Amino acid sequence: MDKKELFFAYTIAHELKSPIITIDGFLKALLEDYGKEIPEGALEYLKYIEDAVKRLKAIINDMLTLSQICDEDEAEKFSLKELIKDVILKMKPSIQQRNIKIEILDSFPILYANKKLIYLLMLNLISNAIKYIGSRNPDPCIQIGTKLINGKQIIFVKDNGIGIPKDYHEKIFDIFQRTPEARKEAEGTGIGLFIAKTIVEKHKGKIWVESNPAKGCTFFVYIPEKKERENESA
Ligand SMILES: Nc1ncnc2c1ncn2[C@@H]1O[C@H](COP(=O)(O)OP(=O)(O)OP(=O)(O)O)[C@@H](O)[C@H]1O
Ligand SMILES: [Mg+2]
Repeated sequence: MDKKELFFAYTIAHELKSPIITIDGFLKALLEDYGKEIPEGALEYLKYIEDAVKRLKAIINDMLTLSQICDEDEAEKFSLKELIKDVILKMKPSIQQRNIKIEILDSFPILYANKKLIYLLMLNLISNAIKYIGSRNPDPCIQIGTKLINGKQIIFVKDNGIGIPKDYHEKIFDIFQRTPEARKEAEGTGIGLFIAKTIVEKHKGKIWVESNPAKGCTFFVYIPEKKERENESA
Protein backbone atom coordinates (compact mmCIF):
# COMPACT_ATOMS: atom_id res chain seq x y z
CA MET A 1 0.00 0.00 0.00
CA ASP A 2 1.31 3.46 -0.79
CA LYS A 3 0.86 6.59 1.34
CA LYS A 4 -2.33 7.65 -0.44
CA GLU A 5 -3.95 4.23 -0.01
CA LEU A 6 -2.95 4.13 3.65
CA PHE A 7 -4.47 7.57 4.21
CA PHE A 8 -7.66 6.34 2.53
CA ALA A 9 -7.68 3.23 4.76
CA TYR A 10 -7.11 5.41 7.81
CA THR A 11 -10.00 7.75 6.94
CA ILE A 12 -12.43 4.88 6.37
CA ALA A 13 -11.34 3.02 9.50
CA HIS A 14 -11.64 6.21 11.51
CA GLU A 15 -15.13 6.93 10.20
CA LEU A 16 -16.27 3.35 10.87
CA LYS A 17 -15.08 3.43 14.44
CA SER A 18 -17.86 5.52 15.92
CA PRO A 19 -20.88 3.63 14.46
CA ILE A 20 -19.28 0.33 15.52
CA ILE A 21 -18.87 1.65 19.06
CA THR A 22 -22.57 2.61 19.03
CA ILE A 23 -23.64 -0.85 17.80
CA ASP A 24 -21.42 -2.52 20.38
CA GLY A 25 -22.67 -0.31 23.21
CA PHE A 26 -26.36 -0.83 22.45
CA LEU A 27 -25.85 -4.56 21.94
CA LYS A 28 -24.35 -4.78 25.42
CA ALA A 29 -27.14 -2.58 26.87
CA LEU A 30 -29.78 -4.74 25.15
CA LEU A 31 -28.33 -7.90 26.67
CA GLU A 32 -27.91 -6.35 30.10
CA ASP A 33 -31.29 -4.64 30.34
CA TYR A 34 -33.51 -7.07 28.44
CA GLY A 35 -31.42 -10.26 28.30
CA LYS A 36 -33.82 -12.22 30.52
CA GLU A 37 -36.82 -11.38 28.33
CA ILE A 38 -35.15 -12.34 25.04
CA PRO A 39 -36.09 -15.84 23.78
CA GLU A 40 -33.30 -18.42 23.51
CA GLY A 41 -33.29 -18.45 19.67
CA ALA A 42 -32.99 -14.67 19.47
CA LEU A 43 -30.12 -14.72 21.98
CA GLU A 44 -28.27 -17.04 19.63
CA TYR A 45 -28.69 -14.54 16.77
CA LEU A 46 -27.44 -11.77 19.05
CA LYS A 47 -24.34 -13.86 19.78
CA TYR A 48 -23.57 -13.97 16.03
CA ILE A 49 -23.98 -10.19 15.85
CA GLU A 50 -21.67 -9.81 18.85
CA ASP A 51 -18.98 -11.97 17.18
CA ALA A 52 -19.23 -10.01 13.94
CA VAL A 53 -18.91 -6.70 15.80
CA LYS A 54 -15.82 -8.06 17.59
CA ARG A 55 -14.28 -8.96 14.23
CA LEU A 56 -15.10 -5.56 12.74
CA LYS A 57 -13.52 -3.84 15.74
CA ALA A 58 -10.35 -5.91 15.30
CA ILE A 59 -10.15 -5.09 11.57
CA ILE A 60 -10.68 -1.37 12.20
CA ASN A 61 -8.01 -1.29 14.92
CA ASP A 62 -5.55 -3.10 12.62
CA MET A 63 -6.31 -0.70 9.75
CA LEU A 64 -5.68 2.26 12.05
CA THR A 65 -2.40 0.72 13.23
CA LEU A 66 -1.36 0.07 9.64
CA SER A 67 -1.96 3.62 8.53
CA GLN A 68 -0.01 4.97 11.52
CA ILE A 69 3.10 2.96 10.56
CA CYS A 70 3.71 5.38 7.71
CA ASP A 71 4.00 8.32 10.10
CA GLU A 72 6.55 6.66 12.39
CA ASP A 73 9.92 8.08 11.42
CA GLU A 74 11.86 8.12 14.67
CA ALA A 75 14.72 5.72 15.31
CA GLU A 76 16.63 4.92 18.48
CA LYS A 77 19.19 2.45 19.79
CA PHE A 78 17.80 -0.41 21.89
CA SER A 79 18.41 -3.99 22.92
CA LEU A 80 16.33 -6.43 20.88
CA LYS A 81 16.65 -9.00 23.65
CA GLU A 82 15.01 -6.69 26.22
CA LEU A 83 12.25 -5.86 23.76
CA ILE A 84 11.58 -9.57 23.16
CA LYS A 85 11.43 -10.14 26.92
CA ASP A 86 8.78 -7.38 27.15
CA VAL A 87 6.73 -9.05 24.41
CA ILE A 88 6.95 -12.40 26.23
CA LEU A 89 5.82 -10.75 29.45
CA LYS A 90 2.80 -9.29 27.70
CA MET A 91 1.93 -12.68 26.22
CA LYS A 92 2.51 -14.56 29.49
CA PRO A 93 -1.15 -15.43 30.17
CA SER A 94 -1.63 -17.20 26.81
CA ILE A 95 1.83 -18.83 27.06
CA GLN A 96 0.95 -20.28 30.46
CA GLN A 97 -2.55 -21.26 29.41
CA ARG A 98 -1.11 -23.40 26.60
CA ASN A 99 1.86 -24.60 28.59
CA ILE A 100 4.32 -23.41 25.95
CA LYS A 101 8.06 -23.64 26.55
CA ILE A 102 9.77 -20.45 25.41
CA GLU A 103 13.49 -20.43 24.64
CA ILE A 104 15.17 -17.09 24.12
CA LEU A 105 18.60 -17.83 22.66
CA ASP A 106 21.60 -15.57 23.04
CA SER A 107 23.41 -13.03 20.88
CA PHE A 108 20.75 -10.54 19.87
CA PRO A 109 21.80 -7.35 18.12
CA ILE A 110 21.46 -3.83 19.43
CA LEU A 111 19.14 -2.28 16.88
CA TYR A 112 18.94 1.27 15.68
CA ALA A 113 15.34 1.37 14.52
CA ASN A 114 11.84 2.47 15.41
CA LYS A 115 11.31 0.71 18.74
CA LYS A 116 7.51 0.97 18.72
CA LEU A 117 7.33 -0.65 15.28
CA ILE A 118 9.85 -3.39 16.06
CA TYR A 119 7.82 -4.18 19.19
CA LEU A 120 4.69 -4.49 17.04
CA LEU A 121 6.58 -6.69 14.57
CA MET A 122 7.85 -9.09 17.27
CA LEU A 123 4.44 -9.07 18.98
CA ASN A 124 2.78 -10.17 15.74
CA LEU A 125 5.31 -12.97 15.10
CA ILE A 126 5.32 -14.25 18.68
CA SER A 127 1.54 -14.05 19.10
CA ASN A 128 1.12 -16.01 15.85
CA ALA A 129 3.57 -18.66 17.09
CA ILE A 130 1.45 -18.99 20.24
CA LYS A 131 -1.90 -18.87 18.45
CA TYR A 132 -0.95 -21.55 15.90
CA ILE A 133 1.01 -23.87 18.22
CA GLY A 134 -1.73 -26.50 17.77
CA SER A 135 -4.37 -27.42 20.34
CA ARG A 136 -3.18 -31.03 20.55
CA ASN A 137 0.55 -30.31 20.53
CA PRO A 138 2.05 -32.57 23.23
CA ASP A 139 5.26 -30.54 23.58
CA PRO A 140 4.56 -26.94 22.54
CA CYS A 141 7.78 -24.99 22.11
CA ILE A 142 8.84 -21.62 20.67
CA GLN A 143 12.44 -20.58 20.06
CA ILE A 144 13.53 -17.01 19.42
CA GLY A 145 17.07 -16.31 18.35
CA THR A 146 19.40 -15.14 15.63
CA LYS A 147 21.35 -16.94 12.94
CA LEU A 148 24.16 -15.84 10.61
CA ILE A 149 23.15 -16.21 6.96
CA ASN A 150 25.64 -14.93 4.35
CA GLY A 151 27.33 -12.89 7.05
CA LYS A 152 24.10 -11.20 8.10
CA GLN A 153 22.48 -11.59 11.51
CA ILE A 154 18.94 -12.80 10.92
CA ILE A 155 16.32 -12.85 13.68
CA PHE A 156 14.08 -15.91 13.81
CA VAL A 157 10.92 -17.06 15.62
CA LYS A 158 10.52 -20.82 15.39
CA ASP A 159 7.55 -22.88 16.57
CA ASN A 160 6.51 -26.51 16.42
CA GLY A 161 2.87 -25.71 15.66
CA ILE A 162 0.48 -26.35 12.75
CA GLY A 163 2.89 -25.01 10.11
CA ILE A 164 2.14 -23.41 6.76
CA PRO A 165 1.73 -25.27 3.43
CA LYS A 166 4.21 -24.22 0.74
CA ASP A 167 1.68 -22.51 -1.54
CA TYR A 168 0.95 -20.05 1.29
CA HIS A 169 4.55 -19.06 2.13
CA GLU A 170 4.33 -15.80 0.19
CA LYS A 171 0.59 -15.23 0.25
CA ILE A 172 0.33 -15.01 4.04
CA PHE A 173 2.17 -11.67 3.96
CA ASP A 174 -0.66 -10.17 1.87
CA ILE A 175 -3.64 -8.63 3.61
CA PHE A 176 -6.52 -10.94 4.73
CA GLN A 177 -4.74 -14.18 3.68
CA ARG A 178 -5.17 -17.09 6.10
CA THR A 179 -4.51 -20.81 5.62
CA PRO A 180 -7.46 -23.22 5.90
CA GLU A 181 -5.66 -24.88 8.86
CA ALA A 182 -5.41 -21.55 10.70
CA ARG A 183 -9.08 -20.77 10.11
CA LYS A 184 -9.99 -24.02 11.86
CA GLU A 185 -7.54 -23.35 14.67
CA ALA A 186 -8.24 -19.77 15.77
CA GLU A 187 -9.93 -16.49 14.96
CA GLY A 188 -7.96 -13.78 13.21
CA THR A 189 -8.29 -10.94 10.76
CA GLY A 190 -5.30 -11.82 8.54
CA ILE A 191 -3.70 -8.40 8.89
CA GLY A 192 -0.90 -9.16 11.39
CA LEU A 193 1.73 -10.35 8.90
CA PHE A 194 0.86 -7.58 6.45
CA ILE A 195 1.59 -5.14 9.29
CA ALA A 196 4.82 -7.06 10.02
CA LYS A 197 5.90 -6.86 6.36
CA THR A 198 5.08 -3.14 6.17
CA ILE A 199 7.25 -2.52 9.25
CA VAL A 200 10.16 -4.57 7.90
CA GLU A 201 9.98 -2.85 4.51
CA LYS A 202 9.91 0.55 6.20
CA HIS A 203 13.30 -0.45 7.68
CA LYS A 204 14.44 -1.68 4.23
CA GLY A 205 14.64 -5.21 5.57
CA LYS A 206 13.30 -8.63 4.60
CA ILE A 207 10.84 -11.10 6.12
CA TRP A 208 10.12 -14.67 5.01
CA VAL A 209 8.95 -18.01 6.32
CA GLU A 210 10.17 -21.59 6.07
CA SER A 211 7.90 -24.42 7.08
CA ASN A 212 7.48 -28.13 7.05
CA PRO A 213 3.83 -28.38 8.08
CA ALA A 214 4.52 -31.55 10.03
CA LYS A 215 7.07 -29.77 12.20
CA GLY A 216 5.92 -26.16 12.50
CA CYS A 217 7.42 -23.05 11.00
CA THR A 218 10.16 -20.46 11.32
CA PHE A 219 9.79 -16.77 10.51
CA PHE A 220 12.99 -14.93 9.57
CA VAL A 221 13.53 -11.17 9.75
CA TYR A 222 16.47 -9.10 8.57
CA ILE A 223 16.72 -5.48 9.71
CA PRO A 224 19.74 -3.82 8.05
CA GLU A 225 22.00 -1.60 10.08
CA LYS A 226 21.40 2.14 9.92
CA LYS A 227 24.49 2.66 7.71
CA GLU A 228 23.23 0.14 5.17
CA ARG A 229 19.72 1.65 5.13
CA GLU A 230 21.12 5.10 4.47
CA ASN A 231 23.37 3.86 1.67
CA GLU A 232 20.41 2.22 0.00
CA SER A 233 18.22 5.32 0.09
CA ALA A 234 21.07 7.55 -1.12
N1 LIG B 1 3.32 -19.31 13.43
C1 LIG B 1 2.41 -19.66 12.53
N2 LIG B 1 2.08 -20.97 12.36
C2 LIG B 1 1.17 -21.33 11.42
N3 LIG B 1 0.52 -20.48 10.60
C3 LIG B 1 0.83 -19.17 10.73
C4 LIG B 1 1.77 -18.69 11.69
N4 LIG B 1 1.86 -17.35 11.56
C5 LIG B 1 1.02 -17.01 10.58
N5 LIG B 1 0.39 -18.10 10.07
C6 LIG B 1 -0.56 -18.13 8.94
O1 LIG B 1 -0.52 -16.86 8.30
C7 LIG B 1 -1.84 -16.28 8.32
C8 LIG B 1 -1.71 -14.78 8.39
O2 LIG B 1 -1.20 -14.39 9.66
P1 LIG B 1 -1.64 -13.00 10.25
O3 LIG B 1 -0.93 -12.77 11.53
O4 LIG B 1 -1.51 -11.99 9.17
O5 LIG B 1 -3.21 -13.16 10.48
P2 LIG B 1 -4.01 -13.87 11.65
O6 LIG B 1 -3.12 -14.35 12.74
O7 LIG B 1 -4.87 -14.88 10.98
O8 LIG B 1 -4.94 -12.69 12.16
P3 LIG B 1 -4.46 -11.36 12.95
O9 LIG B 1 -4.63 -10.26 11.95
O10 LIG B 1 -5.44 -11.28 14.04
O11 LIG B 1 -3.05 -11.52 13.36
C9 LIG B 1 -2.52 -16.93 9.51
O12 LIG B 1 -3.92 -16.88 9.41
C10 LIG B 1 -1.98 -18.35 9.39
O13 LIG B 1 -2.66 -19.03 8.35
MG1 LIG C 1 -1.67 -12.90 13.57
